[in-house]
Amino acid sequence: MRCPRCEAENPSRFKFCGQCGSPLVTQAGASMSAERRSLTVMFCDLVDATSLSQRLDPEDLRNLLQDYQSVSADAIARNGGQVAQYLGDGILAYFGYPLAHEDDARRAVRAGLEVLSAMARLNARVARGPGARLAVRIGIHTGLAVTGAVGSGAHREMLAVGETPNVAARLQALAEPDTLLLSEATHRLVEGFFDCRAHGSRALKGVAQPLALYSVLGETEAQGRVDRSVPSGLAPLVGRERELAELTALWSAAREGAGRLVLLSGEAGIGKSRLLKEFGERIRVGARTRLRYFCSEQHVRSPLYPVVRQLERAAELRRTDPPALQLDKFEAMLAASAPTREEVALMAALLEIPERSTRYPLPDLSPQRQRQRTFAALIRQVETLAARSPLLMLFEDVHWIDPSSRELLELMARRLSRLPILLIATLRPEFAPRFGAGLPVTHIALARLGDAERRALVEQVARAGALPERTVLEIAERSDGVPLFIEELTRAVGSGLAVPASLNSSLLARLDRLGSAAKEVAQIGAAIGRQFYYGLLAAVAQKAEPDLRLALEALGEASLLTCRGMPPEATYIFKHALVQDAAYDTLLRGRRRELHAEIARQLELQHSGDTAAQELLAHHYTEAGLHREAVRAWRTAARHSVSGGSFAEAEAQLRTGLALLERQAQDKERDRQEVGLQNALGNVLIAQRGYTAPETLAAFERARRLAAALEDPGQGLRALWGLGTALLYSGRLSAVLEMMQEAAPLVEKNRHLDARLAFSVIHGSVLLDLGRVPEAHRRLEETLAMDNDPSRDRERALLYGQSPRISALGTLGIAALLLGHAERARRHTEQSIREAQALSHKPMLCLAYSLACRHHWLAGAKEDLAAHAGALQRIAADQGTPLWLALSRTYVGWALAEEARSREEGIALMYEGMREYRESGANAATPLLFLALGRACARAGRDDEARDFLGDALRGGTMGEERWLEAEVLREQAALLLRHNDLPAAEQTLARALAKARQQGARLFEQRATARRPAGGASPG
Ligand SMILES: Nc1ncnc2c1ncn2[C@@H]1O[C@H](COP(=O)(O)OP(=O)(O)OP(=O)(O)O)[C@@H](O)[C@H]1O
Ligand SMILES: [Mg+2]
Repeated sequence: MRCPRCEAENPSRFKFCGQCGSPLVTQAGASMSAERRSLTVMFCDLVDATSLSQRLDPEDLRNLLQDYQSVSADAIARNGGQVAQYLGDGILAYFGYPLAHEDDARRAVRAGLEVLSAMARLNARVARGPGARLAVRIGIHTGLAVTGAVGSGAHREMLAVGETPNVAARLQALAEPDTLLLSEATHRLVEGFFDCRAHGSRALKGVAQPLALYSVLGETEAQGRVDRSVPSGLAPLVGRERELAELTALWSAAREGAGRLVLLSGEAGIGKSRLLKEFGERIRVGARTRLRYFCSEQHVRSPLYPVVRQLERAAELRRTDPPALQLDKFEAMLAASAPTREEVALMAALLEIPERSTRYPLPDLSPQRQRQRTFAALIRQVETLAARSPLLMLFEDVHWIDPSSRELLELMARRLSRLPILLIATLRPEFAPRFGAGLPVTHIALARLGDAERRALVEQVARAGALPERTVLEIAERSDGVPLFIEELTRAVGSGLAVPASLNSSLLARLDRLGSAAKEVAQIGAAIGRQFYYGLLAAVAQKAEPDLRLALEALGEASLLTCRGMPPEATYIFKHALVQDAAYDTLLRGRRRELHAEIARQLELQHSGDTAAQELLAHHYTEAGLHREAVRAWRTAARHSVSGGSFAEAEAQLRTGLALLERQAQDKERDRQEVGLQNALGNVLIAQRGYTAPETLAAFERARRLAAALEDPGQGLRALWGLGTALLYSGRLSAVLEMMQEAAPLVEKNRHLDARLAFSVIHGSVLLDLGRVPEAHRRLEETLAMDNDPSRDRERALLYGQSPRISALGTLGIAALLLGHAERARRHTEQSIREAQALSHKPMLCLAYSLACRHHWLAGAKEDLAAHAGALQRIAADQGTPLWLALSRTYVGWALAEEARSREEGIALMYEGMREYRESGANAATPLLFLALGRACARAGRDDEARDFLGDALRGGTMGEERWLEAEVLREQAALLLRHNDLPAAEQTLARALAKARQQGARLFEQRATARRPAGGASPG
């Protein structure tokens, strides 16, 4: 295998190059199959190449071009990029493919700068020879591409296809000679790490939107995320008080001469660097007493890399400075620790300062000895500094430490207990370096943020109040409490991306690192969901068991998955929602569909008949584009939700199903699916919004039309029942009767008992409202007699959203009361409540309580009324349906108005309930509500209002069709007239009441009217 850095050939088992030690990119580790990936593309080209070819001898030109290509390829490889193609004099390079690194964009820009400075050196050399000056332009852009093999036979290449490479090429063309131009997308990723100049927006040929462009001037001093200075700044620290206190205590001890090594561990982005920054600020250490060392993923094999860089920064060395100046600066920096000449020589050699040996000749030592002495010099230098004032040494990212630095760190750690030095090393636990046994260390592990802290951070980043509550919660949840994820998710709100662009490469890097087998398993798992179990994964993945287990272990070791149980019983969970999303995002759309179809197939096999799995099944069918199956599963899922009382979920599921149908071409099969969904939706909406809500009616209306076109009597009846109930609750009695006529032939055709029951109970209710009491009573009794299997009621409630039995029993209770059978009536009412409770169907329980309240008010049973009104109010509050909330308030008002001392309060509640009731769209039973208000007002001496309400009640309520209370209203009016000593009018009204009661067969009202008859001048009680 060829080393990407030095091009040396290595045996295939090598993981690192035998020549230069660079990690070897194994093509097996990279994905050969096509993927959607975000990557950074660099395009670099020579300026004015044609004129060069005219001016130079071809041989010189060739040499020059080879030099240009090799210095560029070196810079690209050094930074982990991959030259994809040489296009004439142009070089196309990828950063992030075949392997992603967490900082690909930064690497690309750094490589670009290195190409520019390498060209400057090349030109300096050329200037001395025969040739001409070469200039290059470089363009860099980050975006989505599809990567994978293209071409055929010997011409197969691994390429990225899409707009991203073209944009990079266009940017290159726009760049000034010897400059590097970035798109806004790349700029956003590297902001703060490079000094850039904005060049405004430009329209690029073949690119839809104009792009903002930036040229790069050079690299900043920023070493890490929290060091950058970016316009948005850092959000204030949240939490971490305990850790800060612990560090502060360790610092106090160190100042007294008892130093310590602290290992501060936590996953990427958890806030290790941030904590160190905060700590440094709190204890106010100056730059001179805080030494910072940064390990780098690109330099895991460069001996003492973090130490070398620290010394360079401390001395402010520029590699472009003349050698003498470099040495001067170096001496000046070391002066504080008064080193010997040999120590300076050793350290200058370590830094490879040019021409050092004239001033500081190195003693003749074996390499081993030189190394030991260098270590000793470095340690002594730090100790001398510490002797002046206590030191804080920060060693960042030691999971990337090179072996020599690790040895040095260990040597230091063993001496610390006698020194005023606090040495804190940060690391990611999954790659912890192995330190020697018995090393004295204090461990501090950073945990994910808690709920309150997550929210606080979201709000800080978004600048308080800028985001809706739902979004805040969603980010808090999806971030899994990792501050970096919180920040980036918050900033990416509105981008429409599941994974913020800024996290793309770091998440992909975690997956790529594992090799293609483990990554593929992660992709399949991601398609299944955040959580998946072994059996399903194995069935879908179709891999040999040992391979699968190995892949899962690798994912576990890399902290991407947590595992519960042992395969084959094991369940796996993605530790981060974002890792799952990143893995899923890499799948090609076609492959996603295949996977979802296969997952659905396996779910059907493994869980046939398991209703709990339906929503999952529905989701996979939907994503697989198998709409027919998806709709079926959504409907089953909705039924399952309804049976668990989860109406909101059911509504969402049914609407998802309907949305899928909308995208399908019209045909019978599609319509058949829709009619079922619309009826089911109507039933769910009865519970969610109420019987008369426009959405409820729209669903049933649509179902009715579809059923008629399909000539499907079963669905037709369901729709008509829904509409009928809605009309009944709207108080539109004649419309109900008309509809019953429309339904009659369907009911005839449909032998199904359910349908007949449903219509029978509506009919009974209408008859009662019209004041045809004995007929209504008979009809309702028949209804109950038809249904000889009450246990089927539960299913009916699910199917139709309501139970004919409970409606019939409750209404029968009222009819029987009016007929004068008080005891029987009470039994019916109580039974309707009992059955509704047994059904545990909240909408039906509301109905039963509501009918019971009416019953007890009519019967004058105060205590029962108060108890049932309270019960209804509690369930209504829980359900949140406007209709039941309004009615429960009204009934509580009734109960209060029964007592003189709470009458006014009761009237106020009734007014409020009435308003809400009308707002909910209901109009049924308004005569009853008016009568109750009229009576309460009369008792409170508010006679004008009483008169108005009784008048309204007599006119049949809002819709003018309800007649059943006429006798009782007239009796109430008579009493009012009598109070005003209008005896003749009172007499006449009471006579009308009596006549009406007799005509309607309402014995209860008849008896009351008789009892009230002012006989012998005695005033009625
Ligand atoms: N407690 C916190 N309060 C506010 N912001 C935080 C907190 N912790 C971390 N952050 C922010 O989250 C981001 C990631 O933090 P940081 O860079 O310190 O993570 P890290 O653990 O050092 O990650 P890595 O392993 O990649 O170096 C930073 O922008 C930082 O400012
Ligand atoms: Mg860090």
